[in-house]
Amino acid sequence: MNVKHIAPLRVTAMLLAPLALAACQVEQPASYAADVKPVLDQYCVKCHQPGGSGFEASGFSMQTHADLLKGTHNGPMVIPGDSMGSNLIVLMEGRADPSIKMPHGNSEKVAQFQINKIKTWIDEGAQDN
Ligand code: HEC
Repeated sequence: MNVKHIAPLRVTAMLLAPLALAACQVEQPASYAADVKPVLDQYCVKCHQPGGSGFEASGFSMQTHADLLKGTHNGPMVIPGDSMGSNLIVLMEGRADPSIKMPHGNSEKVAQFQINKIKTWIDEGAQDN
């Protein structure tokens, strides 16, 4: 057999292997206690708790699972099963107006892999797990 015809197949296999690995990582279940709360505690809770500017302006506390699912005065920010439609994610990814991107101001940005974990958790039902 002509070697030239085999080589491209090997290259394809090498390119697909990391993709398969990445797909497996996305399917790891996410947990509120391990993947969501620590991120919110680090980046959001200082403003989103009674006395903080975010809570005072919008009524949105992120101290507990119940607070997080309750949302703002205007309604839920997390829609279980629908991460793309959840305003929590819309704001964290800066898909709304950049001036209301969360976290606010000059606060350090949340890493995309952490946002992805929160999205997985929402898509899996946003449980208190
Ligand atoms: C420095 C303070 C501060 C930090 C940190 C902060 N927020 Fe906010 N947040 C606010 C304020 C103030 C508002 C009120 C609305 C506005 O000014 O945009 C708000 C409003 C919100 C709202 C409601 C928007 C609406 O439609 O009413 C969401 C959702 C939100 N924040 C999510 C987050 C998330 C998620 C984080 C962490 C990644 C975070 N915030 C970190 C200050 C903060």
